[in-house]
Amino acid sequence: MSASLRIAALCGSLREDSYNRAMLQAACDLSPEDVTVTIHDLAGIPLFNEDVEAKGWPEPVQALRDAMGKADGVIIGSPEYNFSIPGVLKNAIDWLFRPAGKGPLFGKPACLMGASQGAFGTLRAQMHLREVCHYNAMPVLPKPEILIMKAQDKFEDGTLSDETTRKLIRTAMERFKSFVRDHPSS
Ligand SMILES: Cc1cc2nc3c(=O)[nH]c(=O)nc-3n(C[C@H](O)[C@H](O)[C@H](O)COP(=O)(O)O)c2cc1C
Repeated sequence: MSASLRIAALCGSLREDSYNRAMLQAACDLSPEDVTVTIHDLAGIPLFNEDVEAKGWPEPVQALRDAMGKADGVIIGSPEYNFSIPGVLKNAIDWLFRPAGKGPLFGKPACLMGASQGAFGTLRAQMHLREVCHYNAMPVLPKPEILIMKAQDKFEDGTLSDETTRKLIRTAMERFKSFVRDHPSS
């Protein structure tokens, strides 16, 4: 692990004005100086299919796998869809999980975040996501939990404007930095 940390961020929303992408941007902006967060676009990731996999990783999958392989940790920022994880995110995780037990996500320390327009701030999706992380032997930062509820009141012009939430994300990124150092993935 190098002196500065490389963190890969996955966003579960493809929406242009996504609150969750804006939340991940805040995580980039509020990270300690020696932590670099890169948000990876999942729009080009094809649907997982073992027949396709058998012919070799499609180019966008290979690029994401390479980036994840080089990362010291991962932030997963996602909305909740139908009380769970959006298909876009689950699909990307399925590609990154392969080959079973040896994929680039395996054992990677994770920080989970989510923003919703409802009252529970993606709590149910994050509970499911924790199970997925458990299967991938990924240690998950326990606290602080980033559950942004009523997102429409906390972002302005595509930027997280709520000071309390910004402070919480700053704390999360400081703690995640130590957590990643304490849980090296390889
Ligand atoms: C297909 C779909 C399912 C949704 N299901 C939930 C849900 O289960 N719980 C919730 O709090 N919000 C749900 N929402 C609302 C999202 O929280 C809201 O659209 C949010 O802004 C999406 O995140 P984004 O701004 O990053 O795209 C759902 C939205 C969509 C499009």
